[in-house]
Amino acid sequence: MEIHRIFENNQKWIADKLQLDENYFKNLAKGQAPEVLYIGCADSRVTAEDLMGAQPGEVFVHRNIANMVPAIDLSAMSVINYAVNHLKVKNIVVCGHYGCGGVKAAMQAADLGILNPWLRNIRDVYRLHKNELNKIQDEEAKYKRLIELNVQEQCMNVIKTAEYQLAAQEREIQVLGWVFDIETGNLIDLNIDFRKILNEIMEIYRLS
Ligand code: CO
Repeated sequence: MEIHRIFENNQKWIADKLQLDENYFKNLAKGQAPEVLYIGCADSRVTAEDLMGAQPGEVFVHRNIANMVPAIDLSAMSVINYAVNHLKVKNIVVCGHYGCGGVKAAMQAADLGILNPWLRNIRDVYRLHKNELNKIQDEEAKYKRLIELNVQEQCMNVIKTAEYQLAAQEREIQVLGWVFDIETGNLIDLNIDFRKILNEIMEIYRLS
């Protein structure tokens, strides 16, 4: 990606959009009403809108290393608050991906400085599912399974928020866990049963 090309590309993109609809940007400027909140990895290969075929205005996006939803991360928590309470999204997606460098790093014994506390959230996922993971002999299969379990745990972290719990009492709001298979391009639905998770965790995590 040559940086000086960006503004040229931008002008081409504007021309393309206006050719299809001369009011494209006027309409875009009116406001947003996305139905989906997408929480994904910052990995440059896992572009949120592209892989879903989504257009500007359709998806509210939050990306960080390894698609995490830590309770004390002000950025992730603010995104959830705004998307649920103000944008009134109907779906919250946590999308991980095979080949995730963040998850890989959390499986290794290495001091990575400021990344340590962030990646420790993934080590905690490993600890929670240690029995299952340690039974997997093949390292690649274990790595893939930790990526899936991390998505599941981050979905659970969404469900633990007061925003989600309150909204779920008032309207239909789904939590979906997906994995992007970087080798084939397929988006895989982990079929996470968010209603069951909500019921199971309320004993401890009920906030309202
Ligand atoms: Co990643």
